[in-house]
Amino acid sequence: VEDYRRIADTLAGDIRSGRLRAGDRLPPQRRFARQHGIATSTAARVYGELVRRGLAVGEVGRGTFVRSAAPASEPALAEPADARIDLELNFPVLPEQNALLAAGLTGVSQPEVLARALDPVTAAGTATAREAAAGLLARGGWRPEPAQLLFAGNGRQAIAAAVATHVPVGGRLGVEALTYPVVKGIAARLGITLVPLPVDGDGIVLDAIRAAHRNAPLHALYCQPTLHNPLGVTVPPARRAALADLVDELDLPVIEDGIYGFLAPDEVPLAALAPDRVVLVDSLSKRLAPGLTLGFAAAPPALTNRLATALRSGGWTAAGFPLHAATGWIENGTVDQIVTAKRLDAEVRQRIVAERLAGFAVTADPRAYHCWWELPEQWRAETFVAAAARQGIAVTPAAAFTTGTGHAPNALRLALGTPTPAALAAALDTLAALAHRTPEDASLD
Ligand SMILES: Cc1ncc(COP(=O)(O)O)c(C=O)c1O
Repeated sequence: VEDYRRIADTLAGDIRSGRLRAGDRLPPQRRFARQHGIATSTAARVYGELVRRGLAVGEVGRGTFVRSAAPASEPALAEPADARIDLELNFPVLPEQNALLAAGLTGVSQPEVLARALDPVTAAGTATAREAAAGLLARGGWRPEPAQLLFAGNGRQAIAAAVATHVPVGGRLGVEALTYPVVKGIAARLGITLVPLPVDGDGIVLDAIRAAHRNAPLHALYCQPTLHNPLGVTVPPARRAALADLVDELDLPVIEDGIYGFLAPDEVPLAALAPDRVVLVDSLSKRLAPGLTLGFAAAPPALTNRLATALRSGGWTAAGFPLHAATGWIENGTVDQIVTAKRLDAEVRQRIVAERLAGFAVTADPRAYHCWWELPEQWRAETFVAAAARQGIAVTPAAAFTTGTGHAPNALRLALGTPTPAALAAALDTLAALAHRTPEDASLD
């Protein structure tokens, strides 16, 4: 270790032990150099190193001071080995995104701008917001017309409104047999029956839709054709085109959940192929942050009014402030910048999965922020989840996503977006070691 780093380490130790306290002024660099028998330039590097580590602040003309509170270093790495590592919730957040988002918010500190952001809005938002959202949702050569766009509080509310628009109380909603769990709750609240439809490696099985519909008409279909949660499957073009033909033929409305579509910008949404049948829902919570709620619905023109009514009467309309903030972030390129970084980040994380879980039955799209793991046969998913929890790692068992009455597969969904890449790699190593053991062995720990 170079000299200056060793001296910085000693000072860092003094700060940690309380020998040097918050607000203490460090001696001028020249004096410090003399005291330690080092060059003044080395002293400058010591102080620079302390500032870099967040342990001191330099104030021009006043000197260098010990910081009031030492910030945590890289969070997951600094966590004790038994801290909870979250592979359960899938809300990717990049360390640098808050600075970008903050920079885009300066406008609303001006009263006249804030006043506009606090105006009441309808489900149709504003013309500027619709234009911005149309650009944001564009992918695979498709771009919705701004007039098709409506705004909800978040993605879940957009789904609820679209379901309520199409499916009456007591009605039937077709869903992939493993699906986004909140849809189960929405259906229960709305008094709707879910009809689970089998999924193969290419997505929802079309004959199953036909058979279910023949059995008793489906009022609508909710599906995720792109980077399905939890399976990670993307419906390939031929099946996608056939699905569009089928829903046209059956006159079956579709709610396409495109929440992960931003990670796969080349995929053509089903909404592009069956524009008269499909409502595409999307939101900002994965693109940006979970606490930032804004949902989008791109509706077929003939449906826009009914969907707007559902949003209003359900109390699901977006609020003006997030609508205003999001429009600004879309227009000034912040969302694009964060999304581009997240695509790269997801790839990095999938490479870690490929490396650390090599040899296991993992389904993973290199673009996705999650993967699906069919466990070795000695494990039941619930037992594995409990064993992982004892190692401080939270994961989700398949049962959370099932809609049918049959047995859930012995599988897990791993959400990859929360820990640092290093903590993710370490957690996957732990899970891989666990999966190689037997539940009996693991329970002795
Ligand atoms: C498939 C899917 N759809 C919708 C949502 C909800 O989005 P929002 O957080 O905007 O309600 C999620 C969030 O986890 C999701 O995984």
